[in-house]
Amino acid sequence: MSNQSKTVAVLGGGTMGSGIATVMARAGHTTILYDVVEQNLQRGIDTVHGFFDRSVKLGKLDADAGEAAKGRVVGSTDLRDLAPSDVVVEAVFEDLGLKKDLFAQLDEIVSDTTLLHTNTSTLSVTGIASGSRLPERVVGTHYCNPAPLMKLVEVADGRHTGSWAHHATVDFLSGLGKTSVITQDRPGFIVNRFLIPWENSCIAALEAGVATKEGIDAAVLGSIGHPMGPFRLLDIVGMDIHQQVATRLYEQLRDPRFFPPPMVERMVAAGDLGRKTGRGFYDYDDTRLFGS
Ligand SMILES: NC(=O)c1ccc[n+]([C@@H]2O[C@H](COP(=O)([O-])OP(=O)(O)OC[C@H]3O[C@@H](n4cnc5c(N)ncnc54)[C@H](O)[C@@H]3O)[C@@H](O)[C@H]2O)c1
Repeated sequence: MSNQSKTVAVLGGGTMGSGIATVMARAGHTTILYDVVEQNLQRGIDTVHGFFDRSVKLGKLDADAGEAAKGRVVGSTDLRDLAPSDVVVEAVFEDLGLKKDLFAQLDEIVSDTTLLHTNTSTLSVTGIASGSRLPERVVGTHYCNPAPLMKLVEVADGRHTGSWAHHATVDFLSGLGKTSVITQDRPGFIVNRFLIPWENSCIAALEAGVATKEGIDAAVLGSIGHPMGPFRLLDIVGMDIHQQVATRLYEQLRDPRFFPPPMVERMVAAGDLGRKTGRGFYDYDDTRLFGS
């Protein structure tokens, strides 16, 4: 499966959907980006185009290749357009009912051999797969954010995932240049088990006045070698998403390290969600969802 050009649909044109659509188009796949909100779909497409334009500007891609990659992405607000998809990657709001319902609808639209991938962070893959009459073709594929830049994808089978779907998924991800790490269908998989408590502790340190956000970001860059500091990363993730993921993991794991510090709620209430609203820990003129 890895080397052939496929038709891939991505559900949700938000932070993760636009990043995943970029990954698909870059790998040569015809990519359908689907969202129910026209404005969000347009921003998703703008974000994908912005990524390829920037890659050309930085000399990482030649101009023809950039235009070709942009041309492989089409937008849709009609689920029926997804009929030719070989793979569907779901990246809509973190809502079990919504994700199950989309997979149930897709059962009537796509072929029975189409792989259904979910990018859920905290929900059970088995629970989402129960929305499909063919749960054997549902696999959890948890991309790291920003998806075009991070190599890791956590792969989690649901209770009824077929081994053919699992192997086809790992093969497909390898064709995207991704590294798969296999994890169980457990809350937070691997990465969020340590990332969320760590991000919370950085926010708590800021709230306690230990240092400025710039200081903490610089300390992380210069010490433990992360590619970006926690506050730059949280601005890409989105504070609403951080709050949701942290709270859900706290509810499931009952470990206080997952509970978001009070500053998170204040920022969400103020609408300071990060890049997507132009203001989070830092201010942004460019509200495309990820960037340089
Ligand atoms: N943000 C992160 O860092 C991150 C990382 C890994 C996984 N995730 C997971 O990815 C998923 C998406 O997160 P996000 O940060 O991109 O969210 P987001 O809020 O940026 O985007 C969600 C998008 O889904 C769209 N949507 C809502 N209902 C829809 C429907 N019925 N059909 C089609 N589109 C619909 C919305 O209009 C929106 O554009 C969630 O499950 C989240 O837990 C997020």
